[in-house]
Parts: sequence; structure tokens; C-alpha cells
Amino acid sequence: MGQTLHQHLKVFATTDPDRAVLVEVVTALAAAAVEISELISGGMLAGITGEGETLNSDGDIQKDLDVQADRIIRGALAGISIAAILSEEANEIEIRDQTSAVSIAFDPLDGSSNINTNMSVGTIFSIVRTPSHARAAFTQPGTAQLAAGFVVYGPQTSLVLTLGYGVDIFILDRKDKIFKLVKSQVRVAPSTAEFAVNASNHRHWEAPIQAYVDDCIAGIEGVLAKDFNMRWIGSLVAEAYRILMRGGIFLYPADARDGYSEGRLRLVYEAHPMAFIMEQAGGAASTGRSRILDLAATKPHQRVPLIMGAIECVQRLERMHMSPDIKSERNAPLFATRGLFRI
Ligand code: F6P
Repeated sequence: MGQTLHQHLKVFATTDPDRAVLVEVVTALAAAAVEISELISGGMLAGITGEGETLNSDGDIQKDLDVQADRIIRGALAGISIAAILSEEANEIEIRDQTSAVSIAFDPLDGSSNINTNMSVGTIFSIVRTPSHARAAFTQPGTAQLAAGFVVYGPQTSLVLTLGYGVDIFILDRKDKIFKLVKSQVRVAPSTAEFAVNASNHRHWEAPIQAYVDDCIAGIEGVLAKDFNMRWIGSLVAEAYRILMRGGIFLYPADARDGYSEGRLRLVYEAHPMAFIMEQAGGAASTGRSRILDLAATKPHQRVPLIMGAIECVQRLERMHMSPDIKSERNAPLFATRGLFRI
């Protein structure tokens, strides 16, 4: 506790010189986060309106802060040898130094629709091993990640980081402008009584998602036999942080609305890093049909359904997707009210 991010990374780097570039990238991202945090805390006083007129690569409205956060991160990474870079705010992959062992994908400002409501937003990043052709860096499965993390710009600015050896959480000490370790080797409880989903989409979901959420809502009287609490912040980083701190399950499934057949979240710089973090913390991440880390994107801004958090709940949802007869899964003796596993 109290160890600085710098000290933490130094310990990591000393055991293997090849880790130096990873440390450089994470250090640069942390410096960018300090700058973005200051900008956000100024809000309208700093000229941040949360508005914008242009569309990004994927048709989302680009807010003023999206653009500035992207600029700040690119600036911080400028002097570092990186093979390929993919930002949510850019149409194309940028190739830099093809000899570099690492490539990075990032969402500079996730949840930006929350900016002018003074709610938590964040930066998400995924650092991957560069394959023989740098252009293929982001079409690898999520298991090619070397490190991943996210920053939450909330009441505190916090950095969640995995270097592939568990998950650690740092908080920005605003006085000294450095991140300090507050929780090391965070674990996600295997089961939970809290779910997060945008329930307004209920009628558009597939049957297994509807059934699972209905079971949560049925509470003590349903097959799950316990009362659930629901949360929806509309900010992936804030939901993921909550799950790491007190457990839970998060769902952004595919649905029948136009443009949502693969859900809303992006595989390379949202689902992959979140899945890496969840698994490193003992949780799980799945589409309901496949493990997120086994998936490889075919295009940079590909979307994917995401279910993440408490491992037993994610596994139950997978069984509900796989079972041709959802009812039999829901009432199977092992999972029913008086069964052994009441997940
Ligand atoms: O990726 C964009 C994002 O803002 C996520 O942070 C969040 O989980 C999601 O969209 C919210 O989507 P909706 O507004 O459809 O609930």
C-alpha cells in the first residue's frame, strides 16, 4: 500500500529487461491520465462542454473531450517505440515502428455521453504483443495481450492495471500528481446479488438474456432464490470498477435494434482489456457463447456482446445460451431453488 506506480513498474521491469517497453507505455499512459483528469475536473471552466458535431470512425458523435483525450494520449506516446496504434477516435490503424515488440489499442474517453452530467468517464487500453506483421496486431485473440488497464475519472481518478500477474488499483494523489497503490491482487467474488444492464432494451434481447434478467428480478421467489440489486451507470469503466470493488455482473448483450446485432461495445479496446482484467481478478468475460479472450477481431472497430464479472454467473449465462431448452437449464436440479449451486 502506498507504493507509487513508478516503484511498482520498476519491480516488474527488473525481473525481465524485455518488459522495459511495457513499463514505458504504462508510464506514458499514466502521465496522459493525469492531464486528462485535470482537464475533466475543470469541466466547463476548462472549455469542456461535452458536445460535438463530428462523427468518429464508428458513427458515434465525437465530443470535444474525446478529441482532446486522444490528442493527449498520442502526445504522451510520441517518443516511445510502438509498432501499431489503434484509437477509437481514428478510422485506421497507425503503423509506427514495425520492430517494436508492443502495439497499443485505446479508447481515449469511454462513456463520453456522461461528460456534461458530471459522471464518471474513463480511458481504456490494451497492450498487445506485435505479431510478424504489425498491421495484424489487432486481429489477434485477446490472449495476445501483455497488459491492460483503465482509468476512471470519477470522485477519485483511479488506475486499474494488469501486467498479466493479477490486478492492482492505484489512485491519483493530486497533490504530487502520481498514482499510488491502494489495492493489490484484487479478486472478483465468484457469485453476486448485483447485476448491471440497460433494462430499457429488454424487449430487444435474445431469450437467454431475457430469462436471466427476469430470474434476477424475480429475486427470492425465482429460480435464483435471492434478491438482486440493479445498477446502470452507462459508463463501462465505472461499472467494471464497481465489480472489482464489490462484485457483480455486467451485461451489454446483442439485441434486435438496428446496429446492435453484435452489441455496442468494441472488442479490441473495450471487451478485450476488460476480459483480461476480469480473468486476472478471478472473474470471467464471455459473449454468452464464447470466451472473450479467445475472440479475434476481423476489423478494427468490431463490436461484441459482453457479459463480465462473477464467474459463476457468467458460466450460468453461458449454459443458458448453449442450452436449446432454456427452461430445462433454469429448472435443472443442480441449479433450482433447492439445488447445490444457487448462483
Ligand atoms: O462504449 C460506450 C458506452 O458509453 C459504455 O461506456 C457504456 O457501457 C455504454 O456505452 C452505455 O450504453 P447505453 O447508453 O446504450 O446504455
